[in-house]
Amino acid sequence: MLILCLYTPFKLDALVKNRTIVPYFVLRISNFRPKKGIFERILITRRKIVADYIEAKKSRLKYYQKISLYYQTKGRKFVLYKPPGKTIEEIRLEKEQVPGKLYIKQEDKIRGIQEIQKVFNRQLSEDVRSNNPEKVKETLVNIVQETLTEPRSGSLEGVSETVNILISEYTKETDVIKNLLIVSKQDYSTVIHSINVMALVLGYATFIDCSLYEKKILGLSALLHDVGKTKIDADLLTAPRKLTDEEFNEIKQHTIRGYDILSKCNFGYKEIALTALQHHEKLDGSGYPHGITNVKKTAQIVGFIDCYEALTNDDRPYRNAMSPLKTLKLIKQDVESDKFSRKLFEKFAYSLL
Ligand SMILES: [Fe+2]
Ligand SMILES: [Fe+2]
Repeated sequence: MLILCLYTPFKLDALVKNRTIVPYFVLRISNFRPKKGIFERILITRRKIVADYIEAKKSRLKYYQKISLYYQTKGRKFVLYKPPGKTIEEIRLEKEQVPGKLYIKQEDKIRGIQEIQKVFNRQLSEDVRSNNPEKVKETLVNIVQETLTEPRSGSLEGVSETVNILISEYTKETDVIKNLLIVSKQDYSTVIHSINVMALVLGYATFIDCSLYEKKILGLSALLHDVGKTKIDADLLTAPRKLTDEEFNEIKQHTIRGYDILSKCNFGYKEIALTALQHHEKLDGSGYPHGITNVKKTAQIVGFIDCYEALTNDDRPYRNAMSPLKTLKLIKQDVESDKFSRKLFEKFAYSLL
């Protein structure tokens, strides 16, 4: 560190460009105040170095076949460990040494997620067929968690198959979706919340006898309604206290950020992005982000069920989960003040029976 302090900004800039030092280290040198241009370039270079290779999760290694895996040498160079077309097990039989950490290239990230989604979707079909709700939920959590590590076009579309599997199996085995809500209420998170909202929405869609096409749109819209939360500071989302107005305004942005992400995806249904945008809007114009009154039907359904799910399951330190009956009574007040549709409220209440 002492030696590095002796470098002039010019030399530091050259070192960073040549990647002979890690820029993050440079940025921590308290005496170093680079010119604005250099500072910006360092930040850009730092992002690039960090982003070129990403550490692969150990639990996911066995699923990668099409993409390559790399290890890092002591000289910080990345070297190929597993070429495309082979599994990690095959390589481990060939090579004696197993590196502690393996990496994938940033450019392979989406293809890696797609490989894992395919494996988990096959697993989901088996879990649903074996009528094991706990296993179904576990696999669903894995799929959604994996997808949300990089929520953008290329990865998000993979959950389309997930919803297909649930819808087609639901017509054969009606308890599968309802059972999803009974298990795993611990570790409440956006992932669990999104799966629960989807399960409730699909239960409602079946109760009102929607077509398969409508169910697919409703299921996907529900599962992805809060995808914009991946672009909000996680500490803010889980803060165990009441939020300030400024913090709450930041959280409200998840609707717009979700819309931006989903409108770039190739789902073929515009309702999915619009639901992310409008699911906190209310029919009397008191919602957010735009205070509109002509809320799309899918967004009304998802928004209403989103409220119900959050109140019945959101077990935060400053607020306990409410019983279904108490929650329905509370939401009824919003129906009476024309925030939600009465027809929707009544049908949803019956769908819970
Ligand atoms: Fe939301
Ligand atoms: Fe939500």
